[in-house]
Amino acid sequence: MVFVCLKDDVPPLEQFLGGMADHMKTHLGQEELEVFHYHRAIINTNWKLFVDNNSELYHEFLHVLNRRTAVAHKSYHERNWLLYQNSHNIIQQGVIHYDSYGLGERSEGALPGMQPNGMVVMLLFPDVMLNIRATVMRIDTMTPLAPGKTLVEWRGVGLKSDTPDVRAMRIQHHNEVWGPAGRNLPEDIAAVETQWETMVQGGSRYSLFAREEGLKPQDDANLRAFYQEWGRCLGRAPNDPFRHGNVDTDVSHSIKEITNV
Ligand SMILES: [Fe+2]
Repeated sequence: MVFVCLKDDVPPLEQFLGGMADHMKTHLGQEELEVFHYHRAIINTNWKLFVDNNSELYHEFLHVLNRRTAVAHKSYHERNWLLYQNSHNIIQQGVIHYDSYGLGERSEGALPGMQPNGMVVMLLFPDVMLNIRATVMRIDTMTPLAPGKTLVEWRGVGLKSDTPDVRAMRIQHHNEVWGPAGRNLPEDIAAVETQWETMVQGGSRYSLFAREEGLKPQDDANLRAFYQEWGRCLGRAPNDPFRHGNVDTDVSHSIKEITNV
């Protein structure tokens, strides 16, 4: 991964990432990775709603797959969100019960830092997300094009050292859930496009991020942090888009220039 910053006076990357740097090293820094899948789409939603959907696990009820293989199992609820400075976050690793949905185990070929059938989701604030389902990593990047148009790029990642058989397995695991016609991704896109359409038409004026569950998976604390941090960057309180706060960091000005959409 290559990180680029357009400003001079920024802290070193590791300092910006804070506690997330250790997770990045665990999952990205141990073996050479390789992108084996790429697709992109312009979807009709605001970029924040795609981050939002990826980040809040209450939305897992949307997916039949996740209801059966994750939410329905006690162990799913026995882990926490880890929240870091600058609104980076990661959910602790949970085990997905693929057998509950008639899918094969993901125990062989687990990526660095992953236990068999494990899954983690992480946000590098503001617009890069990494999902790992044991054998395959998905990297999402969001680029806002207009208030209701977002370019999303998806990359599927395995190990550079993969044998052809292992690579074929990773491709299958990637596509069955996250490919353009996978089990989950089309549902996520339908959700965020409908959400935006409803907001634009005035169907819902506010989103509520009120769930407090002791940082358990369906706690909204990570989303509250996301919108607070974004509000700080823009000089706006997230609960009142018309009130400008006293934000005294010049970061807000440059971000406002390019993302005031
Ligand atoms: Fe989803």
